[in-house]
Amino acid sequence: MLVSPSVISCRLENLASEISHCEKAGVYSYHLDVMDGSFVPNLTMGPDLIKAVRRCTSRRLEAHLMIERPDIYAEKFLDAGSDLLFIHGEVLANFQKVIEKIKEKGKKFGIAINPETPVERMEKWIAQSDTVLLMSVHPGFSGQSFIGSSVEKIRELRKLIDSRGYSAKIEVDGGVNDRTAQSCVDAGADILVSASYIFSGDIEERISFLSGLIRS
Ligand code: DX5
Ligand code: ZN
Repeated sequence: MLVSPSVISCRLENLASEISHCEKAGVYSYHLDVMDGSFVPNLTMGPDLIKAVRRCTSRRLEAHLMIERPDIYAEKFLDAGSDLLFIHGEVLANFQKVIEKIKEKGKKFGIAINPETPVERMEKWIAQSDTVLLMSVHPGFSGQSFIGSSVEKIRELRKLIDSRGYSAKIEVDGGVNDRTAQSCVDAGADILVSASYIFSGDIEERISFLSGLIRS
């Protein structure tokens, strides 16, 4: 499995060393949770933090933009060093324009889908995505419990992508840990995001555990 640790749960005073543990464990990418206090009831990082992470790694950086106006801010997150931007399908502010801007800069786009949003409603954007970010918690905070019905949703999304021949990978975000990850893998996930599980214990061991999971 591909693993994308979410930097939101790093100890920021030790950012470089926490990332070096992730590097040793061989992560696929880093997940950067950007919240604007409006689309979600929480505030987190801006482009400067992404620049700092960029200086620590050459792996893929994905910015998960939980913001109302990706049309205004996408460029700043691209210029800060993101390789991929996840934009929420629930926002829909000049969506096609944002995708064009991302692709113009040679970067990747991914649609992010909230738990209550049906996947079929997002098909137009799934077709244009490098990766689809399926939320398995309501966005806003790390450390929440995995919503069980997400497993069925992963299965539906897998079916949709495979039957239409789309190339998007499926990334699952929220409440992923040693008890919930296997069911995501079995349902068809390609990438697992994890914040509180990875950073509240032995980082390398926990990443290795998630990376070692195989579809049963
Ligand atoms: C939630 C974020 C997630 C979250 C994951 O709004 O998008 O990336 O930080 O945290 P855990 O893995 O602790 O659920
Ligand atoms: Zn996220």
